[in-house]
Amino acid sequence: MTEPGRFISFEGIDGSGKTTCVESAARWLQQRGIRVTLTREPGGTPVGEAIRAILLNTPHPMLPETETMLMFAARHEHVHRVILPALNTGAWVLCDRFIDATLAYQGAGRGVSAERIASLMRWVHPTLKPDITLLMHVNLDVAAARIGGRGERDRFEAEADSFHRRVSDAYLRIAATEPHRVHRIDGSGTPEAVRLRVESTLASAIAGLT
Ligand code: TMP
Repeated sequence: MTEPGRFISFEGIDGSGKTTCVESAARWLQQRGIRVTLTREPGGTPVGEAIRAILLNTPHPMLPETETMLMFAARHEHVHRVILPALNTGAWVLCDRFIDATLAYQGAGRGVSAERIASLMRWVHPTLKPDITLLMHVNLDVAAARIGGRGERDRFEAEADSFHRRVSDAYLRIAATEPHRVHRIDGSGTPEAVRLRVESTLASAIAGLT
């Protein structure tokens, strides 16, 4: 029987350099002969990507609960059509954001209750949780400068500093609560310095898996 793969998620505030982190991690694992499925949330399936376009770009106001349910609708397609099937073939799934993003953005950022998020989680993925989460951390000024250089902002990037502060604090709380799963990486400095930090953190996180 094939041994199931590992599930690794990548988190961080907008402008934290998370995407570079995912790409370095994927390359590092592939160089070690590991079969990798690289995917993202919201998105990762045709329906999920269509939902992502609404979530990131609709010009219309959206209630926080609607936003939360759309995140989980996209996640339901993703978990059942992509993540679980890939893990079952023995591939390692690298996911650019997962449930911690909902806790940080919709929970802390928008004020949706932990109980409502937990009830959707019980519905959509009652047992699936990342084996490892890499949290890219930069201070809010660094993140704001990076977002500012990107041109057009999406609905989340356009939020006030206070929103990004709540999201960042929530991520740090999650990391402090689950130190065995969530590994914080300093995302400041050159891309090369960050890549080396990602590789060494990943190596020790994998060594710590049971
Ligand atoms: P990204 O692909 O640049 O990370 O953009 C996705 C955006 O969606 C980002 O601003 C965070 C947001 N998001 C949530 O608010 N909740 C979620 O559950 C997920 C997966 C993403």
